Amino acid sequence: MKLTGQIIASTMFTLLAVVANATPVPLAIDDCLKCHDEIVTDISMQGGKHSTEISCLDCHTEHPPKGANAIPACSQCHDPQEKSHYSVADCLNCHNPHHPLKIAPATGTLVKPVCITCHVNEGAQLTGYPSQHSELDCNECHLEHGQFLTCLECHESHNEVMDYADCLTCHKPHMPTLVKYPESIPSSHCTACHETEAKLLATTQTLHNELSCAFCHKTQHKVIPKCTICHGVPHTAALHNKFPSCLKCHIDAHDLHK
Ligand code: HEC
Ligand code: HEC
Ligand code: HEC
Ligand code: HEC
Ligand code: HEC
Ligand code: HEC
Ligand code: HEC
Ligand code: HEC
Ligand code: HEC
Ligand code: HEC
Ligand code: HEC
Ligand code: HEC
Repeated sequence: MKLTGQIIASTMFTLLAVVANATPVPLAIDDCLKCHDEIVTDISMQGGKHSTEISCLDCHTEHPPKGANAIPACSQCHDPQEKSHYSVADCLNCHNPHHPLKIAPATGTLVKPVCITCHVNEGAQLTGYPSQHSELDCNECHLEHGQFLTCLECHESHNEVMDYADCLTCHKPHMPTLVKYPESIPSSHCTACHETEAKLLATTQTLHNELSCAFCHKTQHKVIPKCTICHGVPHTAALHNKFPSCLKCHIDAHDLHK
């Protein structure tokens, strides 16, 4: 913080040429309300620390037409050396100084470089797992700070029953192509795309029929288990040596032949 300069300056704050005689009358904080009532209300309602820790006069040390420097630079108080966030460009794109935390990132300018000064993890995920989401700017999904559009506002579901929570079971928004899921995921989520396996498994007369897709295809999409993970080597060594592939006789994991 570098307030001292402002405090000194604000005590020297001189007014407005409205004053007719030669002695300038210092403008008091109460005066602002007379002509800028909307801003005064705005700040007192949602000015945050710009209302509680400083006043109009700390920022506006001069007033036109007498003073030409009525508008402060953010860097006067938020030293760019202090945090990388204070060294980004165009503070006013996102912050209105009179309600600084009511943030609606402007569209049309790239906000990503600013967002990732604070949200390092999300930035790292988008670059570490390149997908078409990595090409989008953050504010295409986060229209206001802290809010987000759900997947279904931009995409169709894979079937009629999946809701937004289901999407997140398999996809993470900042690395959507990395599909991971818990073992408890219902098979109906898989069968939205895998009708063939679904039909076979539903009609097979064997005990595999009772297993869910994720019981065998654990954790990550496209993982294929070896039969021996669960069954060890059930037959004689001679038989396994002669027929290395279990499916030579059992034909299909989803439609076992015994
Ligand atoms: C008598 C009415 C009046 C009072 C009192 C008044 N202002 Fe203003 N203010 C104006 C007018 C009119 C303008 C527009 C002047 C212009 O654009 O040249 C203005 C412009 C401004 C600007 C914009 C300057 C710029 O360069 O764009 C700021 C900042 C400002 N006032 C702050 C204040 C603050 C802070 C107070 C209280 C300490 C205050 N004013 C009190 C009438 C007033
Ligand atoms: C944290 C610093 C800060 C504080 C505190 C602050 N302002 Fe401002 N104000 C600014 C900045 C920066 C701008 C220029 C905004 C822009 O260009 O969009 C501005 C613009 C203005 C303007 C001219 C533009 C407009 O929006 O009409 C007026 C008038 C004004 N302020 C009045 C006030 C009054 C009155 C207060 C106290 C109730 C106040 N300001 C408190 C920083 C501040
Ligand atoms: C006269 C000094 C001063 C100026 C100029 C100033 N600020 Fe601040 N600002 C403060 C102080 C003091 C705080 C509270 C302490 C802190 O967070 O550093 C603050 C806090 C904030 C906050 C957090 C508000 C909260 O309620 O937590 C934001 C956002 C902010 N400033 C943005 C800006 C932006 C953007 C500008 C330029 C348009 C600006 N400030 C100009 C002094 C200033
Ligand atoms: C792309 C939008 C964007 C831009 C540009 C931007 N900010 Fe911020 N800023 C934010 C967001 C979002 C927050 C987080 C608010 C919260 O915590 O709710 C924030 C928080 C802050 C805070 C309070 C938290 C803290 O870390 O101190 C200050 C102060 C601040 N910004 C100052 C600035 C300054 C100064 C600039 C220009 C150098 C600037 N901001 C540019 C979006 C932006
Ligand atoms: C100055 C640091 C800062 C910047 C810059 C910033 N954020 Fe944040 N963000 C925060 C903090 C702190 C929180 C948690 C507190 C809160 O909810 O306000 C947060 C929360 C969020 C959340 C909600 C998290 C949750 O768990 O609900 C989202 C989404 C978000 N930010 C997105 C963004 C986007 C997009 C940008 C760029 C436009 C951005 N942030 C810029 C500091 C920042
Ligand atoms: C394709 C849309 C999309 C893009 C692009 C996107 N996000 Fe998100 N983000 C989301 C969704 C959806 C959520 C909410 C996830 C939830 O409900 O848990 C989210 C959540 C967040 C959260 C909350 C914590 C978390 O990780 O769940 C933060 C912080 C965040 N995003 C920051 C960012 C930042 C920063 C960027 C840009 C670098 C960005 N996002 C780009 C869609 C997106
Ligand atoms: C603001 C719109 C938006 C939101 C919200 C959004 N996406 Fe996307 N997503 C896109 C766009 C644009 C593409 C590029 C391909 C296209 O046009 O469909 C894409 C592509 C994808 C892809 C393919 C990625 C690739 O590189 O092949 C997946 C998977 C995906 N989205 C999943 C999701 C999920 C899951 C969510 C919710 C967490 C989500 N999306 C939220 C806009 C969005
Ligand atoms: C059971 C896990 C699972 C669930 C739940 C799921 N997805 Fe997917 N999704 C996938 C897989 C796997 C792919 C990749 C298919 C491929 O490799 O082509 C995919 C691909 C996508 C794509 C890329 C385009 C496409 O259709 O191939 C989008 C967009 C997408 N999902 C959105 C969603 C949305 C929205 C939801 C929630 C309604 C959702 N997903 C729920 C597993 C899931
Ligand atoms: C959005 C559609 C979609 C969803 C949902 C989906 N998959 Fe897939 N899956 C695909 C596509 C596309 C392929 C690639 C097919 C190909 O290469 O011929 C694939 C391939 C596979 C493969 C074979 C990989 C290989 O190397 O041949 C397995 C195993 C698999 N999926 C299991 C699952 C399981 C288990 C689920 C549910 C947790 C699931 N899939 C959900 C679309 C999906
Ligand atoms: C993730 C574990 C898992 C994997 C992988 C697996 N199975 Fe099974 N299998 C089971 C379970 C559980 C049963 C039910 C009986 C039991 O508890 O042994 C079973 C039963 C069987 C049976 C007896 C069916 C019946 O109705 O009596 C055969 C034969 C069989 N598996 C062959 C295979 C073959 C061949 C593969 C590879 C293509 C395979 N399994 C992969 C878990 C698995
Ligand atoms: C008993 C374990 C088991 C269950 C349950 C299971 N799979 Fe498989 N799956 C396998 C094995 C083992 C393979 C590899 C077969 C091979 O090597 O040809 C496989 C292969 C696949 C393939 C690759 C294409 C193919 O048919 O060879 C897909 C796709 C697939 N499974 C989807 C599913 C879906 C969807 C479900 C649930 C409806 C499911 N699986 C249930 C064990 C299982
Ligand atoms: C040469 C053909 C053949 C090959 C190769 C083969 N099996 Fe079998 N397997 C059978 C026959 C036939 C049966 C049913 C006879 C029985 O119930 O004893 C059977 C039964 C089983 C059973 C059920 C045992 C029980 O107690 O009900 C399992 C589990 C099994 N096989 C797993 C495997 C696995 C895993 C492999 C590969 C490592 C494999 N089989 C390779 C022919 C084969």
